[in-house]
Amino acid sequence: MSTVKKYKIGNPVETEAVTADVETIEGLPELGNARVEDGIFKMSFDMDEDDIVYGLGESPRGMNKRGWEYIQYATDDPEQVEDRRSLYAAHNFIILDGKKPVGLFVDNPETARFDIGYTRQDRMEIEVPADLNLYVVEGDSPYEIAKAFRKVIGKSYIPPKYAFGFGQSRWGYKSKDDFRSVAANMRKAGIPMDMLYMDIDYMQDYKDFTLNEKEFGKDFPGFVQEMKDQNIHLIPIIDAGIKKEAGYDIYEEGVKGNYLCKLSDHRTDFVGAVWPGYSVFPDVLNSRSREWFGNKYGILTEAGIDGFWNDMNEPALFYSEQGLNGLVDYLKDYVQSPETHHIFELGGQVAAIKNSPDDYRRFWHNMDGRWVRHDKVHNLYGYYMTRAAKEAFDRLRPDQRTLMFSRSSYIGMHRYGGLWTGDNKAWWSHILLLISQLPALNMSGFLYTGADLGGFGADTTRDLLARFTQLGVFTPLMRNHACEGTRDQEPYRFEKPETFAHLTQARYRLLHYLYSEYMKAATQDDLMFKPLAFVYPDDEFARHVEDQLMIGDEIMITPVYTQNAKGRYVYLPEEMMLVTLQPDGKISEEIMEKGHHYIEYGLDDVRFFVRKDRAIPLVEAAMSVPEIDMDTIEMIGYDGAAYDLYDDDGVSSDLEKAGTSVRRLMK
Ligand code: GLC
Repeated sequence: MSTVKKYKIGNPVETEAVTADVETIEGLPELGNARVEDGIFKMSFDMDEDDIVYGLGESPRGMNKRGWEYIQYATDDPEQVEDRRSLYAAHNFIILDGKKPVGLFVDNPETARFDIGYTRQDRMEIEVPADLNLYVVEGDSPYEIAKAFRKVIGKSYIPPKYAFGFGQSRWGYKSKDDFRSVAANMRKAGIPMDMLYMDIDYMQDYKDFTLNEKEFGKDFPGFVQEMKDQNIHLIPIIDAGIKKEAGYDIYEEGVKGNYLCKLSDHRTDFVGAVWPGYSVFPDVLNSRSREWFGNKYGILTEAGIDGFWNDMNEPALFYSEQGLNGLVDYLKDYVQSPETHHIFELGGQVAAIKNSPDDYRRFWHNMDGRWVRHDKVHNLYGYYMTRAAKEAFDRLRPDQRTLMFSRSSYIGMHRYGGLWTGDNKAWWSHILLLISQLPALNMSGFLYTGADLGGFGADTTRDLLARFTQLGVFTPLMRNHACEGTRDQEPYRFEKPETFAHLTQARYRLLHYLYSEYMKAATQDDLMFKPLAFVYPDDEFARHVEDQLMIGDEIMITPVYTQNAKGRYVYLPEEMMLVTLQPDGKISEEIMEKGHHYIEYGLDDVRFFVRKDRAIPLVEAAMSVPEIDMDTIEMIGYDGAAYDLYDDDGVSSDLEKAGTSVRRLMK
């Protein structure tokens, strides 16, 4: 049995993160020494040595969040190093698995501090400005608590089936021929693909909802169709900032219609610099502006586009005019009297104009009548931008699913789209980071997730890309993406591209199993990725495993995340079957006893474990999702095991009309 209680403290902003009608109790809970001090709500919990804290969605560090301080504050920071406190998203949900497990959702979109054994190893402290709704979830186990929480935040977003295919991306594709050449090279190398992502260069001068005149101005719908004829969907990026430029229709409409974020006078449009230079920002927290901005996606859906990614929506601000002026004053002063400044100060001052809290205090939202300064609701921007898009898709193409994922997010956004984990790096540690983020994201409702495979920033290597891909085979969003200026990272750029052909084909062989597990998790408010602890709560060793994951009810993955490793140690909480999808297309199966093992895991294989008395369906590989032949289904795993395969047309928004079927398959 689990229960959810809502405590209303102060005068919170209604975030619409929770959709269920949870009875509201005014005031503080009798839990965790809850109190308000100097306008800050505080709670603290003692932690026994063996307690585990799960959650915080997209956050740094491990699956067990103990031993660090996390600031939930959407931040555009591509240096995702170990000592970061904030990443692109803010997911304020945690589960303390102690004597009596408890889940807490701290619903305040300003900023929230979770000190989980940082100040004192045996203490957890939560601090947030004292206007919040606090949801307390109680249940028998952390898994039950996670599911109970999911029940109150509404159903997770469902993408089209093609979005379970592989997508290739790079900041730097500029012309039709760039896309044609990637498509041709992928097909030539035998690497399946369903999506090519269009980064900012497809736009004219980085202006949202425009096309680069020279490259795409002529017959864009024809080009979209040319790609679709090869089963490739073009997925354009949409940025939060709208270029401030006289004559640019979207900017002018935004000004005239009063759709933009304002300065403190509530009249003047706020201006900040992003890719297009000085830009204005749609006030997506306002329903009228949201409708206006959302409708603009129609310019591209009209041309045949059926998927998007929303970016720069923390919102990222490179600088503002006010920030620049302040910096100039500082520099003048520095030049005149450097000795009055700390020797290390200069670089920091220059860097500080980016995403500056001062700028976030400069602009305001009109939340349907209530004026709110941005910093008070900072974490909602990406969520509401994505909501604007999804609400528009429901008007523009109501019968069909549209691919949508975002960089920044808050709990609640999981109903409108998925997310990618932003600008990671070509670092081995970022494979491990993704392993810990996947189940935590699922706990917060985000099922359609993944990271930039190969790493976004920094130069990748062939082996790193292969190891990233071996994990990406299992993530719903499977995309290789890289930053401008980094080494070419398309899988066919490396020697022996057949390795990548095989790894990606393995994804397509597993695709229907993954889709089925996704749909079950989405429709039943369940997790697709689980820590071992959720499945084997009484197994003390399993409880603390940080680098293996359960997927659905059938499989366990054990990715390799260290360079030059030939394999890795794995822990089996019960007997399982090690399945290897070999490069020659053969499948090998080996039953392994409960306990510790070292398994070899080369770059060319896809290996995973099937749980005892379970089986999963595999199909033959195909070059794209629609080409998968469902008559080739075979079952692998334990003899006599059954699997319920969920399937539908993969396109219809209304699952009743999607020809949904659940087929029992036997091994
Ligand atoms: C941001 C995005 C990245 C994109 C780049 C250019 O850094 O996170 O994915 O490639 O902007 O649009």
